[in-house]
Amino acid sequence: MSHRIAPSLLAADFNHIGDAVTMVNESQADWLHLDVMDGIFVPNISFGQPIISAVKKVCTKVMDVHLMIERPELYVEQFVECGADYVSFHLEATNHVHRVCQQIKSAGAKSGVAINPHTPVQSVFEVLEDLDLVVIMSVNPGFGGQKFIYRTLEKIRTLKEEIIARNLNTLIEVDGGVGLHNAEKILEAGADVLVAGSSVFKSDDPKLTIERLKTIGIGNLQF
Ligand code: DX5
Ligand code: ZN
Repeated sequence: MSHRIAPSLLAADFNHIGDAVTMVNESQADWLHLDVMDGIFVPNISFGQPIISAVKKVCTKVMDVHLMIERPELYVEQFVECGADYVSFHLEATNHVHRVCQQIKSAGAKSGVAINPHTPVQSVFEVLEDLDLVVIMSVNPGFGGQKFIYRTLEKIRTLKEEIIARNLNTLIEVDGGVGLHNAEKILEAGADVLVAGSSVFKSDDPKLTIERLKTIGIGNLQF
């Protein structure tokens, strides 16, 4: 399967969230990425359960919820209840990573762990078998529109090798500063899912940008 594109709602015009979801529904995007921030784990506050429940009612894509919150163990079931297909939480935000993964799965969703730029990718190796998704942050979480940190490419390669060596199906998602200028390099490194906020929603033609991101590298597959 070719790579997946996950536009991030954080970069949409919040006066027109419904229109943003419709655009994503009609596009070649595979997932919709939803960033939840608590103002403690990250220095910003975004949106929470009520918005996600409302989006679920109209969204036809896979709902990919990225929790940037302290103590995710207190909330993960609520986000599954709101309609998340994937729930990712930060390794740095809890002492009980393995347990929170099990909580998410028992509640009926796929589980993901996100890691900040300073966190070694090997930190997820002990729980890799329990994960459907690893979110590699390629910016410091909290804000859209930041520059991609290129050191991330090495982390993606290392993780991909480990996933292949263990014969797992865990997906690698890359989040932050992703756009048409660097998507190919990120995919070459081994990413399966590209999150794209500003590069999609701030572009002149968001649907076309999604299509371009989606078809990158497709030509190579013919040979
Ligand atoms: C950052 C969020 C990202 C953000 C990406 O903390 O986790 O998902 O929406 O936005 P861009 O693509 O603009 O860097
Ligand atoms: Zn995110």
